[in-house]
Amino acid sequence: MKTETAPVRLADYRPPEFLIDTVHLTLNLHPDATRVSARLALRPNGEAADLVLVGDELTALSVSLDDLPLTAKQYEAGPDRLVVRNVPRRPFTLTIETEINPTANSKLMGLYRSSGTYCTQCEAEGFRRITYFLDRPDVLAVYTTHIEAPKASAPVLLSNGNLTASGDIKGTDRHFAVWHDPFPKPSYLFAMVAGDLGVIRDTFVTASGRNVALGIYCEHGKEARCGYAMEALKRAMRWDETAFGREYDLDVFNIVAVSDFNMGAMENKGLNVFNDKYVLADTETATDVDFGFIEGVIAHEYFHNWTGDRITCRDWFQLCLKEGLTVFRDQEFSSDMRSRPVKRISDVRTLQARQFPEDAGPLAHPVRPEVYAEINNFYTPTVYEKGAEVVRMLKTILGDAGFRAGMDLYFARHDGQAVTIEDFLACFHETTGTDLTQFMRWYRQAGTPQLAAEGAYDAAAKTYTLRLSQTTPPTPGQPVKEPLHIPVRFGLVGQNGADLQYERASGASVTGDVIHLTQPSQTIVFHGVSSRPVPSLLRGFSAPVRLTIDAPEADLRFLLRADTDPFNRWQAAQTLLMRALIDGTASARAGRAASIEPALVDALAEVAGNDGLEPAFRAQALLLPSEADVAREIGRDVDPDAIAAARNAIRAAIAGRIGPRLTEIADAMATRGRFSPDAASAGRRALANIALDLAAAGGDADAVARIVARYHAADNMTDRLAALSTLAAAARVERIAALEDFHARYRDDALVLDKWLALEATVPAAETLPRVRALIADTAFAAANPNRIRALVGSFAGGNQTQFNRADGAGFDFLADYVSDLDRRNPQTAARLLVNFRSWRALEPKRREKAERALRRIAQVSDLSSDTRDIVTRTLA
Ligand code: PHE
Ligand code: ZN
Repeated sequence: MKTETAPVRLADYRPPEFLIDTVHLTLNLHPDATRVSARLALRPNGEAADLVLVGDELTALSVSLDDLPLTAKQYEAGPDRLVVRNVPRRPFTLTIETEINPTANSKLMGLYRSSGTYCTQCEAEGFRRITYFLDRPDVLAVYTTHIEAPKASAPVLLSNGNLTASGDIKGTDRHFAVWHDPFPKPSYLFAMVAGDLGVIRDTFVTASGRNVALGIYCEHGKEARCGYAMEALKRAMRWDETAFGREYDLDVFNIVAVSDFNMGAMENKGLNVFNDKYVLADTETATDVDFGFIEGVIAHEYFHNWTGDRITCRDWFQLCLKEGLTVFRDQEFSSDMRSRPVKRISDVRTLQARQFPEDAGPLAHPVRPEVYAEINNFYTPTVYEKGAEVVRMLKTILGDAGFRAGMDLYFARHDGQAVTIEDFLACFHETTGTDLTQFMRWYRQAGTPQLAAEGAYDAAAKTYTLRLSQTTPPTPGQPVKEPLHIPVRFGLVGQNGADLQYERASGASVTGDVIHLTQPSQTIVFHGVSSRPVPSLLRGFSAPVRLTIDAPEADLRFLLRADTDPFNRWQAAQTLLMRALIDGTASARAGRAASIEPALVDALAEVAGNDGLEPAFRAQALLLPSEADVAREIGRDVDPDAIAAARNAIRAAIAGRIGPRLTEIADAMATRGRFSPDAASAGRRALANIALDLAAAGGDADAVARIVARYHAADNMTDRLAALSTLAAAARVERIAALEDFHARYRDDALVLDKWLALEATVPAAETLPRVRALIADTAFAAANPNRIRALVGSFAGGNQTQFNRADGAGFDFLADYVSDLDRRNPQTAARLLVNFRSWRALEPKRREKAERALRRIAQVSDLSSDTRDIVTRTLA
């Protein structure tokens, strides 16, 4: 196990001393003794006399140079390094034989087995667990992969690129396949899969008329659940042609769904490997949310073919070059397939729930980090989601045409290269002439900027004066922050709801509906404004900042009813609800009851019942900020019990005032006919389920009975699970029978049982922690499967505010013990669970002290992995 690693710094980047032009890999598969032969065509690229290749837990069997076996004296091989002294100063070949044990590989990095299927995961540094290599993304090689395996247990043999040969190996029960990938790629994009799998096939004809054979592989018997993913893949392929001018480039595109996977999915060239949770879906077993995720992840991995594979990262510091950009692309795709405003609202919710706390805590880092101890820990919401926001701002600043021109140049200029964020931005600078020096700070500077706004209308002068100021709080290693270029999309809303016109603006550059804030503080004066406007700022969430504005409640209620920007209508509701929840929390702590303005409740009812708005949007408006959202906004001295009490009281008050109205709205949403996962139908279900959940919040007997009946009558997983979670989240007695029923219905379906595990883990009651422990001990809980672990332990630590943060510290102790144990088998998943401690310093003193004690216990464990060591160290720092 890698335990001690010196930090890696961006400033220390040096080009590789050698390059590898071609790789011929032969994998002779065997459950616990797989033979790997790697023939590398190398050439010097620097001055070094010695060739140093990296490995991880490897055993070298033999090494040959230009086909002459080296004696043990001519090279040094250890588990994590192979050094060949004084190699020729000309191109040469090196052939290395290693032996590895896929069955024992519980880290799920390198070559491992998932339900008997051989599969690989190489990003970021897994290839070195297969063979010694220059395992870094700026070494691009053409791969030919020869796979041999028993015909009976592994009839399917897959790798990157196109199939060039296959057949039986005479006189044995084995067969072989040879795959050749003509596109040079870094080792992290290598993949191989071998097993006994079912498949569905389709074809896609590209814009220029090329035929592509598509395949989605899965466990036998699950083929029917791959259909939605296949349709989503074809939509994604078409969309990339029209939206970005990007065509697919190989003759085949394969996807394999495996059940043991550390992450969501992986964009290996021509052979994407997926966590089966992001492939398998049907009406019976998947919710609308699942369908949406599948569409998004299928698209994300496909889009990597250009943003990641054809153009890759020079080094791992540039991770956001592919991830932020590809998340932006998949968000745009889903917006075009579904409702743009609803997609934006849900993406912003995710950003605020996952990235904002990261940026405000000990794990804060820039979108492009400058140092890391373990790269696995930088697949973060900051790199992915904030990275996507930065690309979105770039588009806002440059406009659609400018953005597209820059992207076109990027694809044309850097195809086949491993590049940097500077290379990316240079394309936009060159095509549009825009100076992006200040914009670059978004990549370098961590922390969420605070944007404060103050406005005043002068009726006599007909001017509206808006003062905007920005500050970014200090983050670890960055005490002082510079001002950023913040694009603030805005409107000055007049009494009839339309944006008021103005003659001119001074004090900042204003292009179209965007104010460019570039200074710490700027005062913008709009001249010729005919009446007092209500400012609608940061429309569409045009920058990843926290906006504070001292808007009167009546103005916010007005925006909720009348703004032409749907995002800001939603934002107005959230701001009002958040104020009520924060006030309510203070009341709860002082022993008083929380309350909510009737006028706000009525405004919410009006939006929820407004048939002129799409149901999915109305559902979002009714969804209160979560307990975690409130904790984040409070930010210090947090008491999760008080937040929960306030939130429950406010939900009950809403139900008390408009419960029957909510029930009517839900009834009106009933759909007839066959289930369809399309966005419009999903929106109707979402509104019905959220309305009914809220109507039951006060514990009204009829409302609860309606939920129980809905659970039993449901003809799809969306409605059934929604009803069940209403019962579970309210910790009502009815939940016990319903959860048992659910378990009995789906006992044989692991992905559905994950939903059940997650609900069990999020019940807000003292008996939940013992229940979670019991479920872990239960044999049905596969301790090695990341999906099970995340569903149960991840949901408890990340989704159960009151119980993970129990006042007695038992929740913290549980996570500490669990992570310390899991770390020995799967460090990557262990480290990710540990991230749930990231906001510990914001807790009230008693809980904070207990959290710290639990963290210190983990830090004392000897032999921690580099993954877990890194997170615990930074979390405590
Ligand atoms: N690169 C993958 C994606 O975002 C994520 C991933 C990272 C998967 C590391 C596995 C390992 O598309
Ligand atoms: Zn990605």
